[in-house]
Amino acid sequence: MFSSKDGRLLIEEVDFEEIVEKTGTPVYITSRKKLEENIRLFQESFGFARMLYAVKANNNLTIMKIFARNGFGADVFSLGELYLALLAGFDRNFILFNGNSKSDEEIEAGIKAGVKFSVDSLDELYTISEIAQNCGREVKIAFRVNPDISAETHPKIATGLKTSKFGIPAEQILEAYEAAVQAGAVVPVGIHCHIGSQIRDVEPFVHELEKMFEIAAELEKLGVRLEFLDMGGGFGIDYEGDGECRVEKFSQPIKKTLENGLQMLKSKPELWIEPGRSLVANTTILLTRVNAVKKAYKNFVAVDAGFNLLIRPAMYDSYHRVVVANKMEKPAEELYTIAGPICESGDILAKDRKLPKVKRGDYIAVFDAGAYGFAMSSQYNGRPRCAEVLVDGGLFHITREKETVGDLIARQRIPEELF
Ligand code: LLP
Repeated sequence: MFSSKDGRLLIEEVDFEEIVEKTGTPVYITSRKKLEENIRLFQESFGFARMLYAVKANNNLTIMKIFARNGFGADVFSLGELYLALLAGFDRNFILFNGNSKSDEEIEAGIKAGVKFSVDSLDELYTISEIAQNCGREVKIAFRVNPDISAETHPKIATGLKTSKFGIPAEQILEAYEAAVQAGAVVPVGIHCHIGSQIRDVEPFVHELEKMFEIAAELEKLGVRLEFLDMGGGFGIDYEGDGECRVEKFSQPIKKTLENGLQMLKSKPELWIEPGRSLVANTTILLTRVNAVKKAYKNFVAVDAGFNLLIRPAMYDSYHRVVVANKMEKPAEELYTIAGPICESGDILAKDRKLPKVKRGDYIAVFDAGAYGFAMSSQYNGRPRCAEVLVDGGLFHITREKETVGDLIARQRIPEELF
């Protein structure tokens, strides 16, 4: 999918510079083949589960359509993500509207679209019930349970600890379901959980699912008929190594826990998972051009993409592999720090990497940028967002045009007295 020929980076069969000629830099480039390989890997390893693609990781419509066509459901977290998921053609029976702070407008749109809800508080339950009654609809819901499980990952993306803002504490969860049974127009049919993101160990997932089965057994006693247990996403990838997710390492112990757990229950709920990163991260590179190189405290390579386009290194100290795309076969000689164009010292994409000698006009490819890359981009510093491209064998398609400075002012209005 990503290889080199005559010292140059190829995406499938396309030389990176063919794309640059059309889109300029920076540009996000996705390999369709890699995406479909990941999809197959998950379908084979998690054949026993229903998969909902976590749209937040990458909401490029073309990518979303590929998931929808491959039978995925969708985890959406906002009105915008719901809109995109409906447009991409996901089956609304398997769209789950998540979120800890949904507006009345979002709730009404979800109800009218006929999707299921993950409910984050009792307050939200009553709001959904009221709006559903006003719309004359019935809504299937799950509660998001906070299982108080600690998993090793960056603190900003650990979500299953009791200190986290997400979900209802496990001790209060039965009370919540009782309330749901009483409330009008809502039918509790699932349990939802998500313990965090970029988790490399399987044990926290096993604990999570065991805890969900304990709750499920209690819920059966209350007469709740469970259709699904949704354990969320979070499967980590090897950013420092080959960028892959070891899917089998997760799926096998989860399958065993599922089989054991189902024996405890009378009903046979489906297992749902909501992967995002592990499906899309390694399908995509961010290609950026070197504007200047200088020897200062360090060897700084100033490129045209910064945390406006890829915020992960600045926000979570994340590591992304980098290569010099036009010098793939040259020996690594010196340590370089790759700096973006944003006016903040934290705008560093990669620190102290040994690379071939870098010069102005070279191209740097940042790997594993397909998850939470473009999706978290901004126009900070007056920088229009870049294009996105999908490579398909020897062809490529621009799936999102780059923005122009016009997009910076598109929604702005100057008050008349300042004309
Ligand atoms: N389900 C729920 C309810 C979630 O909150 C998330 C991610 C997922 C599924 C998908 O998790 P994944 O499989 O992608 O780990 N911006 C951060 C990651 C934030 C994750 C937020 N929630 C990053 O760049 O690392």
